[in-house]
Amino acid sequence: MEDQAVELSLRPRYLAEYIGQNQVKENLKIYIEAAKMRNEALDHVLLYGPPGLGKTTLANIIANELGVNLRTTSGPAIERPGDLAALLTNLQEGDVLFIDEIHRLHRTVEEVLYPAMEDFALDIMIGKGPSARSVRLDLPPFTLIGATTRAGLLSAPLRDRFGVVSRLEYYSVDELSYIVSRGADILGIEIVGDAAAEIALRSRGTPRIANRLLKRVRDYAQVRGDGLITTSIAEEALRMLQIDMKGLDQIDYKMLHAMITSFRGGPVGLDTIAATIGEESQTIEDVYEPYLLQIGFLQRTPRGRMVTPAAYQHLGIPMPPDRN
Ligand code: ADE
Repeated sequence: MEDQAVELSLRPRYLAEYIGQNQVKENLKIYIEAAKMRNEALDHVLLYGPPGLGKTTLANIIANELGVNLRTTSGPAIERPGDLAALLTNLQEGDVLFIDEIHRLHRTVEEVLYPAMEDFALDIMIGKGPSARSVRLDLPPFTLIGATTRAGLLSAPLRDRFGVVSRLEYYSVDELSYIVSRGADILGIEIVGDAAAEIALRSRGTPRIANRLLKRVRDYAQVRGDGLITTSIAEEALRMLQIDMKGLDQIDYKMLHAMITSFRGGPVGLDTIAATIGEESQTIEDVYEPYLLQIGFLQRTPRGRMVTPAAYQHLGIPMPPDRN
């Protein structure tokens, strides 16, 4: 199977198979059951949190649990109001429309979404100039699921129209160990428990990374061993991938080292860091920084980002004496 097909097959399809995010899961279970009992569309759901934590997976699960169709699109893919109108008018009653990266919707498109979410209606302008008039078209009741890495980037009127707002959290090492073992099971990979835990430990709280590391460690086990993933095989493979004990990779290192050597550990602005290491600010802010903040290696201050004492210690670099 192609990597992408494997990734799809690893995704849980029902809430009962979904590991972690217990609070979110418990709430969704109730809202889904209630909507089904009332024979109504589920209220609109906003899922937010760092990439790779299962927002798309949850959207699929919600549609499966409701027994309805899922239509998937993304903010930047909807270029004009007409694109959204086409999607909305093709929905059947109760369907789920999933918009990934919903913070990147164009303003003109967003305005079509408001009456659609609130009144299940589409306002269409007919004609131009003084004779122009607006016609209201009814839509079937539907559920919008929006996903974003940062809810703060959503306009207030859009955010306010979601009845359910759920934040996905980084997974615990135990949860990730389960996910790795489950993934290995599905892929027919043999792995010892401690090796699964080792992969989990270095997956930055993120199932997408855990499953990716599992596949790379499997490659290593096949070529260098007999296929069984032992703890030493996992450690060796992860060392070759340059993933450290905390799950930091080369880019994290580059960033922390640049902040320390060129900016005395900060404070330094995001764009300056990005320019120094040649990465996109957006990628740093969405992908790298949240985990470094989570494990207490970075701190955000009004004057910029700072490397913390814990990070200095992890890197084995002494702190400048005038900092504490
Ligand atoms: N695979 C990826 N994410 C998962 C999750 N949250 N639960 C189970 N399997 C997964």
